[in-house]
This record gives sequence, C-alpha cells and structure tokens, in this order.
Amino acid sequence: MKTIICPPIYNEDYQEFNEDAYFASFFKASKLSAPMMDIAEKIVSELETGSGCVVLKNSYSGHNLNRAKSVLINVCRHIGWPVSQTPNPNFLEEITFKPSSNILSTSRGYRSRASIPLHTDRCDLNVLLCFAQAGNGGTTRIVNSVKLYDKIKENIPTSKHNIIDSYFPFSRHGETTEREKAFYLSKIFHSASSTSKFVAHYIRCFIENDNVKKDYPLNGPMIELLDAIDQHAKCTDVGFNLTLSKGDILFLNSHTTLHSREAYQDQKNERLLLRMWLSHPFSRPLPDDFSHAFKNIAPGSYRGGIWDNDKVRIFYQTQFLHAQHEDQLLHAQHRK
Ligand SMILES: [Fe+2]
Repeated sequence: MKTIICPPIYNEDYQEFNEDAYFASFFKASKLSAPMMDIAEKIVSELETGSGCVVLKNSYSGHNLNRAKSVLINVCRHIGWPVSQTPNPNFLEEITFKPSSNILSTSRGYRSRASIPLHTDRCDLNVLLCFAQAGNGGTTRIVNSVKLYDKIKENIPTSKHNIIDSYFPFSRHGETTEREKAFYLSKIFHSASSTSKFVAHYIRCFIENDNVKKDYPLNGPMIELLDAIDQHAKCTDVGFNLTLSKGDILFLNSHTTLHSREAYQDQKNERLLLRMWLSHPFSRPLPDDFSHAFKNIAPGSYRGGIWDNDKVRIFYQTQFLHAQHEDQLLHAQHRK
C-alpha cells in the first residue's frame, strides 16, 4: 500500500456539495488543481502498476458532511469518471448503518454493521472517504489478488492447478434477457505476465447462488478452490488489515485487490464512509467474460457499475466523458 499526504487544499472555505444539484453538473464544475493533478498521477500509477492500494491521508478533517462529499468528488474528478452504484443512478453512496423494514438489508451488506466477506466491487476503482470511524471494529482487510493467486498455486498440488484457471458460474442477479441463463461463466483469476494486465474478481455468494447451483452445480475441486481463496486470504503475506482514520481516502483497484470488512459496533450510528466507484482513462483491458458485468471491456473506457439499463449508462457516459475533453486540455497545459 502506498500512503500519500493530501496537501491542505480542502479546508472549511471549500465549497459544499449541493444535494439538490444535478450530480453530473456538480462533478464537471468541480475545479482541477495542479497539486491534485500531481497526486492523481501517483495514485493511478500505484493502482495500475503497483500494489493496487493507496491511502490519501488528511483530505478533510472537518464535520460538514456536504463539504466532505465535495472533497471526495473533487479528488475523484482528478482521476476518472463516476459510475453508478445502484440501478437508480447513484454516484456517491453513504456506507453506514441504515435501519430498514427489510430484514435482509439490515442484517447484511454495507447498510448493516455486520461483517462483509471477501469480494471485489463491480468497478475499476473503489474509493472510500472515512468521515467517521466506528466505536469498535469495522477494520477493512485488503488482499493483493496477484499474491493470493501465486500463493494458492504454490499450495495446491500441480495436478489441481487447472482448477485455478477454470471457469466458474457467476449469478447475473436478475439482469437477464429472456434467452439468457441466470449466470454467466467467468474465471476468478485471469493471470498475466505483469501486474498491469492481471484481473481477478470474486464474490462467493454470486458463485454459490441457489439459482446458479440448480443449473451449474460446483464440483468438489471447485469448492476446494473457493475455500482455499478464503483461507489463504487470511495470510499476512498476501494481505493486511487497515483501520481508516477520519479524512483518509482509500483507493482500491478492484482487479488486483479483494476486500472484506469485519463487523463493528457503534453507540450512536457514527460510522460513515463515503463511496464512489470510478472508471478511468488508464484502466487495463478486461477479458471477454467481463462483458456482462462491465459492458465495455476496452482499456480506458467508461465501464462497470450497476445500471438499470443501457440507455441510462450511455447517457452518463456522454456526460462524464464530455468533462474529460476539457481535463485533457488542462492536463496538457499543466505538463508544459
Ligand atoms: Fe466492496
């Protein structure tokens, strides 16, 4: 993991996010600055060719939530383009305990205080700003998937190596057309000669989904591999536990890291992280079997996220990529 100290750009004079504003307009109006351009280059380089994990410390230490949202938007503006995190487009999600009458949504997932198992997010970059930490617990575990892949390969018999590179069923989670099956086939690990080409994705509950199992039951060696992933991910030589401090912004490359969260307790529902998902111009090519989840697999394209339909996704692609043209001009001037 690389740690970078944020220069004192975002103080109490910094503009607040306007909840009533149209998000894409607010994002595009957020101004680029020379110090953050330099930092963004370092962040992207570490995410794409290094450890896949960066913490930007001391971004904002105040208590104004809308100012914190604006800080996160501005930092992300220097790196890439927001993609939606829910079918009804939402580009900035509050990760906190949200009581609900739906027992499932409060007993698990990011709106609960429960632990979240090891997984990758459906985006190129996952960005989390810590606004307030829990009273107790809530540590994030970050696992380098390149190291995990190598470790699993070292620890299982050579005769079983083919299972590491084999295809697994992943639930489409209801996003099917009439002729499609409830799942698509994809490898968990797409190994490569360099870190900048490696791609992994893993969400065990998508693979072991009941609807998927009916049509594509897993055999013994497949289940052994899933167990090996969960087991070896606990080793100190492939991952580490991270407790975010207030003002930290965590960046994770979803293709080369996996993450999980331990359960937490807080008295007054204080834990609050702000999350954005990004695609960006320097992303790696993705394998064909990512077409379902990411829609675009070309390097540097607007891709990933969760969308209700293609029309909405393409609309926002146009909105955010329009901002890129202006950014390129500014970057070019900055480099002169
Ligand atoms: Fe996640």
